[in-house]
Amino acid sequence: MSMSKEQINKVSEAQEFLKEKTNNFNPETGIILGTGLSRLADKIDREYTIDYEDIPHFPLSTVESHSGKLIYGNLFGQPVVAMQGRFHYYEGYTLQQVTFPVRVLKSSGISRLLISNAAGAMNKKFRKGNLMLITDHINLLMDNPLIGPNIDKWGPRFPDMSAPYDEKMNNLFRNVAQKKNIDLFEGVYIAMQGPTLETRAEYRMLANLGGDAVGMSTVPEVIVANHMGLPCVAISVLTDECDPDNLKPVTLEEIIETAGVAEKDLVILFEDVLKALP
Ligand code: HPA
Repeated sequence: MSMSKEQINKVSEAQEFLKEKTNNFNPETGIILGTGLSRLADKIDREYTIDYEDIPHFPLSTVESHSGKLIYGNLFGQPVVAMQGRFHYYEGYTLQQVTFPVRVLKSSGISRLLISNAAGAMNKKFRKGNLMLITDHINLLMDNPLIGPNIDKWGPRFPDMSAPYDEKMNNLFRNVAQKKNIDLFEGVYIAMQGPTLETRAEYRMLANLGGDAVGMSTVPEVIVANHMGLPCVAISVLTDECDPDNLKPVTLEEIIETAGVAEKDLVILFEDVLKALP
């Protein structure tokens, strides 16, 4: 079997499995929850919860801070499917594996994707605990999920990336933030492989390259969403300050704790955004 056929079949099998398990629940909105951001998942009126390990061809989460499941249900009145736990390049997956769930959810009929992540703040105006709307990105993963034969039925060989984040949904987040009096910064997210955090010299370089925040996820999912014509929007929860001239050590525990605190604002934003979506 050709490589492309095999990929198409894997997505179909996962999609068929989910369709059966969820009785055609078929939400229009997909959500990817980042590290330490599970409070939003707790707000979902759950209809179906499916462990990644039960879904055909799904990779398995290897990081303990991510419990891998798909949660189907209603969130602030909007039917959603949420990924609790995502896959990272540093875990050893290929970017095709990392983005497999996005292919499956898009094939299952979602028409928009809301992404969250935990990221380090490089812009000196940003403080830990702030939120940042990702308006653009720089892919420094040195890899791309679209490398390999293109599957024309999924999308074009050379996807346009002039506006990878949906301006309508960006505006919705801006409006809600203003109305709720929540600081929503905006900026460029740089994706690094990890799993190390960056050195001072690297933070200096990344800020000079035009980055406002840095993390280890999101860009592969956004590339694949764009490939498939799936509008997406992404918010970073800034968990630490990456000032090369005054860098303090950080641990994963602190990152998760800060994400948990900032998540209150994220939940407020998501609530009003989901209520405003058609
Ligand atoms: N780099 C620095 N700080 C971070 C990151 C990162 O990738 N993710 C969360 N905080």
